[in-house]
Amino acid sequence: LAQIEIKLADIPEGKNMTFKWRGKPLFVRHRTAEEIEDERSVNISELRDAQHDADRVKKPEWLVLLGVCTHLGCVPIANAGDYGGYYCPCHGSHYDNSGRIRKGPAPLNLEIPEYEFPDENNLVVG
Ligand code: FES
Repeated sequence: LAQIEIKLADIPEGKNMTFKWRGKPLFVRHRTAEEIEDERSVNISELRDAQHDADRVKKPEWLVLLGVCTHLGCVPIANAGDYGGYYCPCHGSHYDNSGRIRKGPAPLNLEIPEYEFPDENNLVVG
């Protein structure tokens, strides 16, 4: 399927859910207020792939990512690693709750696919 529609109510606050989209894992995370605050306050001059959190989300509560490590393509584990976001066990890359690379060999932040919110309750990716 080219597009996937996801009901936001199925993803509780603080949880990441994994879907399959175009043969790849897709992560959708319902971020808590604390997670949003933490990511917004990061000093981006310290980042390898410098991006503001606000430029990586359309709504602060919802983080939408491809679950493909930018090192060699393994699938990171959610809610793991030194920054609480994602951890890739293949060679030890740590991503934050904005999907930004913070430590380990991966060169780039986790990729963000095209997506939109057609209404309050749904997310469409693709
Ligand atoms: Fe993720 Fe190497 S593939 S750290």
